Amino acid sequence: MAEAQPHILMCPPVFYAIEYEINPWMNRQRQADHDLAVRQWNGLFAALSDAGAKISLLTPVRGLPDLVFTANAGMIFRRTAVLSRFRFEQRQGEEAHDARWFSDHGFEIVPPPPETFFEGAGDALFCGEDLFAGYRMRSDARGHQEIGRRLGVRVIPLELVDAYYYHLDTCFCPLAPGAAMYFPPAFDEYGRTALRELIPELIPVEAEEAEAFACNAVLVGRTVVTNTGCPRLHAALAERGYQPIETPLSEFVKAGGSAKCLTLRLDGEEAAAWRTADED
Ligand code: ARG
Repeated sequence: MAEAQPHILMCPPVFYAIEYEINPWMNRQRQADHDLAVRQWNGLFAALSDAGAKISLLTPVRGLPDLVFTANAGMIFRRTAVLSRFRFEQRQGEEAHDARWFSDHGFEIVPPPPETFFEGAGDALFCGEDLFAGYRMRSDARGHQEIGRRLGVRVIPLELVDAYYYHLDTCFCPLAPGAAMYFPPAFDEYGRTALRELIPELIPVEAEEAEAFACNAVLVGRTVVTNTGCPRLHAALAERGYQPIETPLSEFVKAGGSAKCLTLRLDGEEAAAWRTADED
């Protein structure tokens, strides 16, 4: 079976700005340079399409500056989109807009479990058969378990302990079934042990590069796209046969996001076993 073209959802940064502070990276006194943000977003778009991805666009909405971070729109499993329920009111206006996009594009919609917060692929990433799920800062552990039952997959809960690494995709990035990179101090001992036991090839990222959002990478085939400032990670990836690419994303780091946060894989992450498995 021929591999389908990787498919990614992005949202142009027309209304992007630092309008509120809901994570420690954000500071309204440290505004994003709008023109530079647009250029950086275009650079990411170009890097991903050059790597072979097809990119669909979500329409930007005035007053929803973080809508650019499409990783949080929901979590995709086959043709199902599990919708998000944002912890902070400032982002809750995104929910209906995201839901409409998924239903207009043929996804089966699954609402997040009642009375739980869930921030989509920002906090729930497949590595092989398992769904690795970050909780405490944004998403709730109980919700992850219910989503796992609903989809019929095992959930590995990972408590996030550092407020700077408030979404799982800021400190963990699956590369292939059995391979991932991570920033160890973002997890507790239990989480680190679970990761080491379940993922044989685990690449640690150093603090300085984690701060440059090294773990917030987008994988398209063997190409790994990150923000600038992650040379040691890039060397480790190149050694393992990946093709690392850097593209500057400083204006999005000001909101606590980078490459991966600005994208949502619509056909499943590269590392998800279900993506390449025979579907029937
Ligand atoms: N300002 C956004 C927030 O705090 C950034 C979201 C980044 N997205 C991500 N998947 N890590 O919610």
